Amino acid sequence: MDNSTASTPEPPDPESAAPPVVDLRHVSIAFDGPPVLDDVSFSVAPAETRILLGPAGVGKSVLLKLINGLLRPDHGAIHLFGQEISCMPEEKLFPLRTRTGMVFQEGALFDSLTVRDNVAYQLIQERVPDEEIDSRVHEALSFVGLEETVSLFPSSLSGGMRRRVAIARAFIRHPELLLYDSPTGGLDPVTCTTIIELIVKERDVHQTPSLLVTHRLQDAFTLCTHRFDTDQGCMVPLPKGQTNPNTSFLMLEEGRLIFDGSLHDLLHSENPFVREFLE
Ligand SMILES: Nc1ncnc2c1ncn2[C@@H]1O[C@H](COP(=O)(O)OP(=O)(O)OP(=O)(O)O)[C@@H](O)[C@H]1O
Ligand SMILES: [Mg+2]
Repeated sequence: MDNSTASTPEPPDPESAAPPVVDLRHVSIAFDGPPVLDDVSFSVAPAETRILLGPAGVGKSVLLKLINGLLRPDHGAIHLFGQEISCMPEEKLFPLRTRTGMVFQEGALFDSLTVRDNVAYQLIQERVPDEEIDSRVHEALSFVGLEETVSLFPSSLSGGMRRRVAIARAFIRHPELLLYDSPTGGLDPVTCTTIIELIVKERDVHQTPSLLVTHRLQDAFTLCTHRFDTDQGCMVPLPKGQTNPNTSFLMLEEGRLIFDGSLHDLLHSENPFVREFLE
């Protein structure tokens, strides 16, 4: 990739900056051994997309589960939609979780449920009327281009289709935050591009803030250098030299956040772990 094509995002104006959607301050967590995350601090602003990079086992999924309240930190503070969640009781977490869409690693669909019931899972739990469920499932499946799969079971879908169903499930409530855990993991390059196009579409059509974990640098660069064109109904490259100003990077290494910045800064970083990851 040509470094000269990347532009630096405009720094946020502190006077007009809206409060972050997610804010982590000095967050640490350990299980049985050394800390998996150690003193991690960063935030996700409204309409911002943050791409979280890092080698396997470094704590990326743990980080997303902390933000969704599925795990609790040992130290530090996590604010979600302005509320401190690290000690919040489960019943108060639940309504916050419904405002967040999560695409779990590997998709995590229920094999015994149809596509409709997978996509509508949360709405069914909340006893939303069937007619409303059908119309919202239709809308979510249309967004990912899979209306025709509504009554199929996940076992009859390809890996890429299953991932799109998982994305439709995360989108169905028009969430205020999206957490994508390796949404292209294990997919072929063409299918990866289809998934990234959906993520770009959600970012550009709804401006939903998001935190996205990926191992694939190619996906991260595509997110930075493309926009969704609603007239053409597809993702198109930005003019040469431009990058999406609201998309930036985080990198974890051995539990520490070693990078927080723009594509331009990532490509020019002298941190040896960043350089090694980029090579
Ligand atoms: N519930 C848990 N109990 C004990 N250890 C855990 C738990 N969840 C995660 N871990 C450990 O925390 C570490 C980080 O796991 P995590 O799943 O976050 O890695 P990751 O960065 O998402 O890796 P990958 O890129 O392979 O998905 C691993 O050593 C894992 O074994
Ligand atoms: Mg993971």
